[in-house]
Amino acid sequence: MATGVWLAGGRGSVAVTSIVGAAAIRAGLADPTGCVTELEQLRSPALPALGDLVFGGHDPATTRLCKKAEALAAAGVVPARLVEAVRDELAAVEPEIRPVPVAATQLESAALIAEDIAAFRFRHSLERVVVVNVSSTEAAPAPHPAHADADALRQALGEPGAVLPPSSLYAYAAFVSGCSYIDFTPSTGARLPALDALAHRHAVPYAGHDGKTGETLVKSVLAPMFAMRNLRVRTWSGTNLLGGGDGANLADPGANAAKATSKQRVLGETLGYEPQGNTRIEYVDDIGDFKTAWDLITFSGFLGTSMRMEFTWHGCDSALAAPLVLDLARLTAAAHRSGRSGPLTELAFFFKDPLGGAPGPAGGVPHALAEQWAMLASFVRGLADA
Ligand SMILES: NC(=O)c1ccc[n+]([C@@H]2O[C@H](COP(=O)([O-])OP(=O)(O)OC[C@H]3O[C@@H](n4cnc5c(N)ncnc54)[C@H](O)[C@@H]3O)[C@@H](O)[C@H]2O)c1
Repeated sequence: MATGVWLAGGRGSVAVTSIVGAAAIRAGLADPTGCVTELEQLRSPALPALGDLVFGGHDPATTRLCKKAEALAAAGVVPARLVEAVRDELAAVEPEIRPVPVAATQLESAALIAEDIAAFRFRHSLERVVVVNVSSTEAAPAPHPAHADADALRQALGEPGAVLPPSSLYAYAAFVSGCSYIDFTPSTGARLPALDALAHRHAVPYAGHDGKTGETLVKSVLAPMFAMRNLRVRTWSGTNLLGGGDGANLADPGANAAKATSKQRVLGETLGYEPQGNTRIEYVDDIGDFKTAWDLITFSGFLGTSMRMEFTWHGCDSALAAPLVLDLARLTAAAHRSGRSGPLTELAFFFKDPLGGAPGPAGGVPHALAEQWAMLASFVRGLADA
C-alpha cells in the first residue's frame, strides 16, 4: 500500500522532522512514541504502514533536507545520531521536494502543482497521495465571490490575480488530482464552500485545521473538567513564547491573529460561554522550536469562592507535530481507500479548530479530547470493517 505524502512546506521543521522520524522508525532505530495510530486501540490493518509512506512536496526554500535535519539536531529537536543514520533516505527524498510552481494565472499554477504530484505518484507507483499543508501560516484572505462555487472558482482562477491563498491552491490542486488533503495549519486550506464542493465532486476526503500539539491540547482536557464539575471559569489567559520559522512567521499580525483565534475557540465551545482573557503569541528567537505556554485560569466554586490554576507547558513543537502528521496521513489515506469523501470530522482529535463546527443542536464536533478520542477510535474500527 505505497502511499505518497506530499508536504506543502516540505523543507520546514515539521516536515523534515516527519521525514526523519518515518525513516528512523522504518529502519528500526526509533520507536513510534507520539504516533497515536501505533497505540493498541488504534492499530488497524486498514492503515498504510509507517514504512509504506513515501515523501515529496513543494517549498520555496532551498535549504537541503540534510542541512535542515542537522539544524534540527543541533537545536535538540531530533537526535543527531538518527539524522546521521537516515542520511541516504534524506538524499533520496531531496529531489522530491520541488520549488513552488508559479505561472501567469493561479489555474496554471494549480495545474503545475498537480503535474508534480502526478509525476511523483507515477515514479513511486503510489496507490494514492495525501497532500499535507505544513507550510507557513497565512493571514486570512480577502473574501471573493468565487469562494462560494466550484465552477465560478475555476473561472476566476483562470484570470490574472490571486483568488486563493497558497494553502487553498494546494487543496484545489489536490482535489482535481484525486488526492486527499490535510491542513495542519490555521490557514484557509479547504475551508471554502467551493473547495468542499470540489472534494465531493472528485470523491476525496479532507481533514483540518491546525494541529493540536501544545497549549490547546491541554485546554481541551482541562476545560471539560471545569465544565463537568460545574465550576465557573471567569478568566483564561495564555502567553505562548516560541521561536523557529513558525514563531518568526507568527510575528506577522495577520498570521498571529489566525493562530490566536484558532487557539481560543476550544474554550467557548467546551464551556458554553466565553471566559475573559486572550491567547497571546510572542516570537522569542532564542528558544527556537521549543515553546513555552503560561496559562492563568481564575474560576469560582461553591458559593462563589474564588480559586485559580496556573500551568506551564514546555514543548518541542516539531517533535509533537511530526508524529501527528504521520498519523493523519495514514488515517486520511485509509479513509480515501474506504470510499470516504468530504470533511473527515472524526479526526477532530488532532486539531485545534476541527472541521464540522461547534457542538450544538445542529450537530458539530466535540472539542473535549476524551470525546474526540472515542470518535477517532470508532472511526478506525469503521475503517477496518469497510
Ligand atoms: N509545530 C507545531 O506544533 C504546529 C502545530 C500546529 C500547526 N503548525 C503549523 O505547521 C506549519 C509549519 O510549522 P513549522 O514549524 O514547520 O514552520 P517552518 O517555518 O519551519 O516551515 C514552513 C515551511 O513552509 C514553507 N513555505 C512558505 N510558503 C510556502 C508555499 N507557498 N508553499 C510551500 N511551502 C511554503 C517555508 O519555506 C518553510 O520551509 C505552520 O503553519 C504552523 O503554524 C505547527
